[in-house]
Amino acid sequence: MDLFEALYTTRAMRRVSPDPVPEEVAAAMLDAAIRAPSGGNSQNWRFIVVTDPEVRSRLGPLYRRAWDRLRSTVYAGRWEKAQEAGDEAALAVMRSSQWLADNFETVPMWLMAFHRNDPSGASIYPAVWSAMLAARAHGVGTCLTTILGTFEHDSTCEVLGVPTERGWRLAAAVSCGYPLGRWGLARREPADRVAFQDRWGEPLPFAVPNPMWLP
Ligand SMILES: Cc1cc2nc3c(=O)[nH]c(=O)nc-3n(C[C@H](O)[C@H](O)[C@H](O)COP(=O)(O)O)c2cc1C
Repeated sequence: MDLFEALYTTRAMRRVSPDPVPEEVAAAMLDAAIRAPSGGNSQNWRFIVVTDPEVRSRLGPLYRRAWDRLRSTVYAGRWEKAQEAGDEAALAVMRSSQWLADNFETVPMWLMAFHRNDPSGASIYPAVWSAMLAARAHGVGTCLTTILGTFEHDSTCEVLGVPTERGWRLAAAVSCGYPLGRWGLARREPADRVAFQDRWGEPLPFAVPNPMWLP
């Protein structure tokens, strides 16, 4: 697959079928992940590939509790505001996030990513994104989520037997499965509206009003 196609179409594909993700795809995701950069090349990462229905059934309620916490705190009023404003894009994100919470157990694979001794907290995310791009190349949809780590860290780590006493922290839970919908171009605020030249507020000398890769 063309690199730019993968970059432009790796969306949050939350709605997926329960069909299993083949082990070769899990292997390709992990092998891509561990090629990623990390601060000082520390590679302070660990991953857990969760497919066992029993483990998923124990994590599902924790994920839903975390999602409810997010909705009642950080996202408080967001759904209602989006409804009032008729903001279809925001409503679509909320609906599909709700789907993921409601269907946690049927998502066939979750890739859990852990890190430690990383004050920036940044070293794990290139690896996670590389895993997601590798999944995309194999037609597997992913969605990066962080709510388990934010709201249900210890309970999640307990289910997964994570040695938290050695500093390991859950950074991300990535849902993985074959998409029920179609791949599409990620819509975003154009680059030339969110980037400056040399100093904050100074416009770029070039415009990028439209996606530079199109399907
Ligand atoms: C750091 C981070 C945390 C995220 N956490 C969640 C989450 O907890 N639940 C969820 O459903 N999606 C989560 N997402 C997915 C975003 O909602 C998604 O990437 C965004 O809406 C853009 O989606 P699109 O690429 O399909 O347009 C997260 C994404 C990032 C980068």
